[in-house]
Amino acid sequence: MTQKVSGSPFLKPFFLKTPVRVASPLQQRRHTLPASEFRNLTSQDAISVFEIEREGKICVYFLQNSPYSLYVRCPELSLGWFEEGQLVAFIIGSGWDKERLSQKAMTQHVPDTPTVHIHVLSVHRHCRQQGKGSILLWRYLQYLRCMPGLRRALLICEDFLVPFYRKAGFKEKGPSEISVSNMQFQEMEYALGGQAYARRNSGC
Ligand SMILES: CC(C)(COP(=O)(O)OP(=O)(O)OC[C@H]1O[C@@H](n2cnc3c(N)ncnc32)[C@H](O)[C@@H]1OP(=O)(O)O)[C@@H](O)C(=O)NCCC(=O)NCCS
Repeated sequence: MTQKVSGSPFLKPFFLKTPVRVASPLQQRRHTLPASEFRNLTSQDAISVFEIEREGKICVYFLQNSPYSLYVRCPELSLGWFEEGQLVAFIIGSGWDKERLSQKAMTQHVPDTPTVHIHVLSVHRHCRQQGKGSILLWRYLQYLRCMPGLRRALLICEDFLVPFYRKAGFKEKGPSEISVSNMQFQEMEYALGGQAYARRNSGC
């Protein structure tokens, strides 16, 4: 099949060859959504992010930010887990340039720094306690290891989640100076550097 292309009156018309493929119904590809997909969030995911988060009611992050603000500025530091096209869990991070997290870190993204501030990890309420939070966090940390120049990830969490992050390999740095609505937090750190073995086997 050919398609006539002529734009400017000064150009002679020419013809583009487009591939002709007549597939039998059996050969036609079914357009199904992937069963499971991990990818960076985009602004189009904002409503799904907001819905999971609104229900989670947790996050320091969302008490202080619009859900759209940070990951739109640094989508490469976000990761969503989609099952058949539906967002089931996500992580939002941003860049930070100080040893410890401060109040400013809640709203800022500092580009090209060795530290990632993990603002939020949230799993859809129907999918909790199935290992998804741990798996997504593990994949995110693997992903960060593949990004050149990154050395560590920091986060703050309430006391009850310290064991969860400890299990994922984070170490406590002590009480955080950040407080929101009288809530107190522990600061935790994960070292990304010096993991050559993990890097070699992670498909980076
Ligand atoms: C915290 C959260 C991300 C964990 O994800 P998840 O998929 O449910 O967790 P997993 O199934 O991978 O791991 C379960 C472990 O998480 C820990 N955990 C999860 N929620 C917990 C809670 N509310 N209190 C105490 N421990 C909790 C437990 O240690 C549990 O370990 P166990 O299996 O030995 O009981 C999820 O519960 C969530 O989205 N909560 C609301 C949002 C939130 O609090 N995010 C973190 C701060 S930004």
